[in-house]
Amino acid sequence: MIETRELTKLFKDVRAVDGINLTVARGELVALLGPNGAGKSTTLRMLTTLIPPTSGSAQVAGFDVVRQQRDVRLRIGYIGQGNGAGHSQRGRDELISQGRAYGMTVRAARTRAAELIDSLGLSDVADRTVSTLSGGQRRRLDIAMGLIHAPELLFLDEPSTGLDPQNRANLQEHIVRLRAEHGTTIVLTTHYLDEADSMAERVIVIDHGRVIADDSPQQLKAKHVGDRVILGFAGSEEAARAAAAIGAQHEGGFIRLTAEDGPREAPKILASLPITPTSIEVTRPTLDDVFLTLTGRSLREDSSTPAAELVEA
Ligand SMILES: Nc1ncnc2c1ncn2[C@@H]1O[C@H](COP(=O)(O)OP(=O)(O)OP(=O)(O)O)[C@@H](O)[C@H]1O
Ligand SMILES: [Mg+2]
Repeated sequence: MIETRELTKLFKDVRAVDGINLTVARGELVALLGPNGAGKSTTLRMLTTLIPPTSGSAQVAGFDVVRQQRDVRLRIGYIGQGNGAGHSQRGRDELISQGRAYGMTVRAARTRAAELIDSLGLSDVADRTVSTLSGGQRRRLDIAMGLIHAPELLFLDEPSTGLDPQNRANLQEHIVRLRAEHGTTIVLTTHYLDEADSMAERVIVIDHGRVIADDSPQQLKAKHVGDRVILGFAGSEEAARAAAAIGAQHEGGFIRLTAEDGPREAPKILASLPITPTSIEVTRPTLDDVFLTLTGRSLREDSSTPAAELVEA
């Protein structure tokens, strides 16, 4: 569904996207993960034909994003990072007009709008003017707008930013269901590590406009970090004795080990020790640990999107 070759975007001297090669197969749910300014939105905007690449190329749904913009647009849905400018129409009417713009009949657009209003929890507010909706309500309306014509390929730029936990969960469920029922290919960006981890079968980590990792969340975590097993002992001497028995190092009263499958390996480690530890902790890595290992920086430090970013379309 998507194939890019050395896709690059320069804004004056800023290399926003610096030679990205991506392949996304039909039906995949892929998350682009990276800190503020990594180039996620710029990548999506090139793939959705909103801005032209400086160099390189991209095919989306089989069409070239520069030479066949219209063919691309008809097949995709795009929900930008900061849609939702002030609208004077009612939410439901906005949705119906959007469906009409994609060539749906009024009747089909009405039915589809009603379904989306229901499943995105907008029933109470769909008949109010859009400008009176709260940020989270408007975000959900934006999402309904992107889904109205049931596109085969959907791009979502930070779909859940600004939503409360309940609505975030509803939205995630909706996205997963959409994929299951219609086989929609979905590419989303997110700052929520747990969201990328739980929803996406493939996570593409982007930093400074480049892809620095591309794999399933499980593989990324296993390959780059691994589980940790931390054993605590009564004192440094005990830890040293235990460490010697298993050929490990100790730091004060602790031994820190890495394991491919911590919960399974911990009992075996325990059985091979000459002394029983006073504590044992098994930790599994997060995608943030992966990012930290790859870049030396944490994604969490800048995981909040500044308000100004939300108005950038
Ligand atoms: N229209 C523009 N003009 C100039 N620079 C831009 C423009 N759009 C983006 N940039 C710059 O390109 C880089 C990548 O921006 P982009 O919006 O793609 O990042 P992002 O990964 O989506 O970040 P965020 O997580 O904050 O949304 C940033 O340095 C940004 O300042
Ligand atoms: Mg962005």
